[in-house]
Amino acid sequence: MKVLLFSGSPRKNGCTYTALAEIEKTLNAAGVETEILQIGAKPVRDCIACGDCRKTGSCVFKDDVVSEWLEKCAGADGYVFGTPTYYGHPSGAILSALDRMFFSNSRIFRHKPVAFIASARRAGTTATLDAISKHGTISDMLLVGSSYWNMVHGMEPEDVIKDEEGMQTMRNIGRNMAWLLKCLEAGKKSGVALPETERKYMTNFIR
Ligand SMILES: Cc1cc2nc3c(=O)[nH]c(=O)nc-3n(C[C@H](O)[C@H](O)[C@H](O)COP(=O)(O)O)c2cc1C
Repeated sequence: MKVLLFSGSPRKNGCTYTALAEIEKTLNAAGVETEILQIGAKPVRDCIACGDCRKTGSCVFKDDVVSEWLEKCAGADGYVFGTPTYYGHPSGAILSALDRMFFSNSRIFRHKPVAFIASARRAGTTATLDAISKHGTISDMLLVGSSYWNMVHGMEPEDVIKDEEGMQTMRNIGRNMAWLLKCLEAGKKSGVALPETERKYMTNFIR
């Protein structure tokens, strides 16, 4: 069982990373393998809506983190996507990456657990979580919650460590994710089939 944890911050080992590392510790303690991936400070392209991925199943751009992340995602069982809060929304880089990952191959995420987390100095986390969670909730993913909304507060990693409730919230995400993964595994072993997803209707009212 493997969970990938993504940081959408350009700051290596910053606040978002610190929150993800707390989730990672809890997952590892429950016997779940993990890897933290950081988006870094190099540019990430936006989706250009070229539609090439509809034919090939992969994004036309191969020169940033997206191809590598998608490859890793295909072999993983669960995901945590984290972002700093920028003017009350997720980082542009993580949104660009998620748009391209989910638009080009959302099948690999279907029926797998996912949690989204946000880090902020002070405010804007709920709007950030609302925006970033949408990639998962439109893709048949199983959203993992916690004992509070999935957020930590701080300007620097040391602040995040002092945010005791935030860290507790992160640990509870890890526990809930590990438990859900084990339930899914047990269900699979005892023959519980994955739900069928209807795709008959795609209704556009505005033309
Ligand atoms: C461009 C920019 C915009 C920001 N906007 C907000 C904001 O709207 N609300 C907030 O509380 N903090 C804001 N911050 C602070 C960061 O969200 C906060 O320090 C976060 O924990 C940093 O996470 P990181 O170390 O993983 O990058 C902003 C920081 C930057 C660089």
